[in-house]
Amino acid sequence: MIDSRSCLTAALSALAMALLLACGGPQSAPGHASPSAADRAEADSLFATRCASCHGPNGEGNGPAAAGLDPKPRNYHDLTWQTATTDAEIEKAILDGGEAVGKSPAMAPNPDLQSKPGVVAALREKIRSFGQVREK
Ligand code: HEC
Repeated sequence: MIDSRSCLTAALSALAMALLLACGGPQSAPGHASPSAADRAEADSLFATRCASCHGPNGEGNGPAAAGLDPKPRNYHDLTWQTATTDAEIEKAILDGGEAVGKSPAMAPNPDLQSKPGVVAALREKIRSFGQVREK
């Protein structure tokens, strides 16, 4: 009935399934990647070069390029917004752009980050961190 070969096959496929689950698999939902230190470093420099022009270096929505925008990027220190917004929404806006989440099309998609879920998660953490800064 169960010879050693089919047992080995079963064990291998169980192992493959366990690895797939552990690694998230291709359909892993956004919001679950946990960023490495390198991801955080990349997200920091990316935010400075690609996002701060509109969102401001401290996420207050007051970057120089925001002046001409309507609607303007929001202030990420706004705790009401932080509470009302899910991690998945933040990550989707970053990857697919503002229009994909019913926001301004001025917020461009970042398709090059599709292959970098850790960096997207680190950007999301960065946006969350602005909500934790205590106002003086
Ligand atoms: C050209 C200006 C501009 C740039 C550059 C830009 N954004 Fe935005 N972003 C916006 C605007 C405008 C909105 C939408 C505001 C609205 O519709 O309420 C937005 C929305 C978002 C949202 C959705 C959540 C929300 O309601 O604010 C996230 C998250 C976000 N941006 C992150 C980023 C990140 C991360 C980068 C850099 C990779 C970036 N943005 C670059 C202008 C910009």
